[in-house]
Amino acid sequence: MHQTERVALMKISIAADHAGFEQKEALADYLQQQGHEVINRGPSTDDRVDYPDFAALVAHDVADGAAEYGVLVCGTGIGMAVAACKIHGVRAVNIITPEFAALSREHNDANVLTLSGRFVELETNKKILDTFLTTEFGGGRHTGRVAKIMALEN
Ligand code: RB5
Repeated sequence: MHQTERVALMKISIAADHAGFEQKEALADYLQQQGHEVINRGPSTDDRVDYPDFAALVAHDVADGAAEYGVLVCGTGIGMAVAACKIHGVRAVNIITPEFAALSREHNDANVLTLSGRFVELETNKKILDTFLTTEFGGGRHTGRVAKIMALEN
């Protein structure tokens, strides 16, 4: 894995639905404590909402270059990933282990991380997030494959 020694400071867009609200708030604080600039796209309460609305906000931030990475939390992370991948330029991955977080960056150049607020503990999600943000894209043989993924948008 190509993990860098220190976390480079980045602009990160984050959102959730009601099932991910609590962890989203905790992860936004965690990122801010590390010095990252956080765009918190909501929601601001744990009232019931529809996850595609929030996936779209973060996905557009990443696709438009307003943020380098996106983080989305729902019950499983699955719906957020499916929705975010509909936005051109986004490679969203639903991750439940740090190992897969590293591989999603190294092999797939993932730019949106989706997390489970119901099935994965906050401490594990913090490790996943750390790994995601500190692992670089491997390039080389992966470059053409990622280019082929992106060509599927056309
Ligand atoms: C909400 O109940 C739940 O469906 C949502 O948080 C998410 O898990 C969808 O993938």
